[in-house]
Amino acid sequence: MHKAKTVLDFHRMKAEGEKITVLTSYDFPMTGLIDAAGIDMILVGDSVGVVVAGFDNTLPVTMEDMIYHTRAVMRARPKAFVVADMPFLSYQTDLNSARLNAGLLIKDGGAAAVKIEGGVNVAETIAAITAMDIPVMGHIGLTPQSLHRMGGYKVQGKGDAQAEKLIEDARAVEAAGAFAIVLEGIPMGLAQRITAELTIPTIGIGAGPHCDGQVLVIHDILGLCSKYSPKFVKRYAELAPIIGEAVANYIADVKGGTFPEERHCFK
Ligand code: KIV
Repeated sequence: MHKAKTVLDFHRMKAEGEKITVLTSYDFPMTGLIDAAGIDMILVGDSVGVVVAGFDNTLPVTMEDMIYHTRAVMRARPKAFVVADMPFLSYQTDLNSARLNAGLLIKDGGAAAVKIEGGVNVAETIAAITAMDIPVMGHIGLTPQSLHRMGGYKVQGKGDAQAEKLIEDARAVEAAGAFAIVLEGIPMGLAQRITAELTIPTIGIGAGPHCDGQVLVIHDILGLCSKYSPKFVKRYAELAPIIGEAVANYIADVKGGTFPEERHCFK
C-alpha cells in the first residue's frame, strides 16, 4: 500500500529526479481505481465540463460543479494528493471571492490544494490564497479558460517574445508561492528551460518529456472520448468499443429473453 502524498513529497521528488504522475478524476469509482494503481496526484479538473458534462469548453463549469465532483473524489479516501481546479469566474473578479472559493474547495470539497490558470496576471491571487495556507498549483501556457483570447486551443510560447512572456509568468507563479505549476501546450525546449529554472515542480501536458511530472485527462488515456484525441495524448486502453459491446450484449439478452436467468432471480 502506498503512503499518502503531501506537498513535501513533490519538492523531494523534483530534487531527486523522480517523475510526478498526475491524472484527472471526477468521481468515486475512478478515483478508487487510479489511486490503487499508485498515482501521485489527482486533479479534479474543470475538464469535467467537457469530458463528463458534454460542454464544448470549460467556461460553463461552476463552483457547485467543482465542489460536487471534489467531494465524490474525496469519498474514495485517496492516498494521492488531490488538487481541485478553480473554475472560470471563481477567482478572476476580486481577491475576496478568490479566497472564499479556494477555501470552499478545501472546506466543503475536501481537496488539499487548488489550481489557478494564469501567470503574472494572477500572481496577486495566488499570493492571497497561499497566505491562507492553501497550497496553489499554477497553470500557464495553453490555459483553456483563455480560449477566446488565444483564438482556440493553440500551442503557446512559440517565438522569442512569447517564450520570454511565459518564462516571466512561470517566475511570477513561483514567486507568488505556488507549490507546483502545470505547463500546457508549449514547445518542449521552453518547458525544459522553465523546469531547469524553477525550484517548484513543473507538470507537463503537451509540454514534452523534460517536465518534473506529467498530467493527462483520464478519459483521454482510457479511450473513453472518441470525439477528439490531441497529439499529446497517449491512449493506454480503448474502452469505448468494450463498453459498446457490453451494452449491445445486454440489449440482445433482454430483447431475446436470455437475461435474467434463474440465478439472477429471488425466490
Ligand atoms: O482541467 C483539467 O483537466 C486541466 C488539466 C488538463 C491540466 O486543467
